[in-house]
Amino acid sequence: MKKMLAFIIALVAVVAVGIGISTHKSSAPKKQKVQTVGILQLMSHPALDAIHKGIVAGLKDEGYTVGKNLKIDFQNAQGDQSNLKSMSERFANEDADAMVGIATPSAQALANASSKIPIVMGAITDPVAAKLVKSTTKPGANITGVSDQAPIDAQLKLIRTLMPKAKTLGIISTSSDDSAQTQVKMVAAKVAKYGFTLKKYSISSTNDINQVAGQMVTDVDAIFVPTDNTIASAMPTLASVANSKKIPIFPTVDTMVKQGGLATVGLDQYQLGVETGKMVANILSGKSKPATTPVKFMTKGNLVINTKVAAKLGITIPADLLAKAKKSGEVIK
Ligand code: TRP
Repeated sequence: MKKMLAFIIALVAVVAVGIGISTHKSSAPKKQKVQTVGILQLMSHPALDAIHKGIVAGLKDEGYTVGKNLKIDFQNAQGDQSNLKSMSERFANEDADAMVGIATPSAQALANASSKIPIVMGAITDPVAAKLVKSTTKPGANITGVSDQAPIDAQLKLIRTLMPKAKTLGIISTSSDDSAQTQVKMVAAKVAKYGFTLKKYSISSTNDINQVAGQMVTDVDAIFVPTDNTIASAMPTLASVANSKKIPIFPTVDTMVKQGGLATVGLDQYQLGVETGKMVANILSGKSKPATTPVKFMTKGNLVINTKVAAKLGITIPADLLAKAKKSGEVIK
């Protein structure tokens, strides 16, 4: 009898728990927590726009979907320093769960606004020189992210292959763009190895591009364009001046080849964004912390060739290079 009673009690208990769980499920679906990410983009140009898209996709890949468990507050500073400051401060005051800076000045503005909220760098060329992290292997504070440092050697090798006779390489950059200045130094240190002499040209705003480009095309055999935000935003102007004088442009990124550059071994800008988004997701979920997450470098460039520009310049692209671009990179027609 006692056994029977115990059995009935146990049965009732099991059923009750069962009902409890099921009613809990149906009457109160577990509400997903919504986390907020503030994304601050320096300005609009195709590379940064692609990075932004990639970030949203990377977050989604890792289970963070806007409207479900994620709110994205996206701000574009239109290249204006005071916008960068006020937008960063607003993200910080509104206690974002994480903040993302696309391009160096954005990440720097976010860093000035908060030393607590996790900050993820979206495609920052030189995070140490920009004083964003102490070390790329052990960031140590609230900032980590993805660097877009370009494969300069592969780039110079490509120029040499396509232009066996070229002597003078011109490089154009904006004096205030730290990320471009890092690359100018890197290129200067490597050109001799590939048999080039380097001529440096600098601009202070897009207004100077026409005049400086006009000078360059009379001095140099080819133009190297670093990841310079100002030039990226005025790439069509530079391309039209240079291409009409048959001087090829070798940019460091795919998007600038699409805008009139000849070729690159460059980083896929969208993919840089995807990696950035994944890093943000791991921070939101608590899987990782900026202080102990090394900065991610994406060193492998894709071969991207613009055959329309090649035809315009009268440059023949070797068949093996074209095949390689078709297979593992991109051919723009
Ligand atoms: N690396 C740049 C910075 O740190 C931002 C950037 C990413 C960029 N991709 C680019 C600039 C392409 C020009 C072109 O500011």
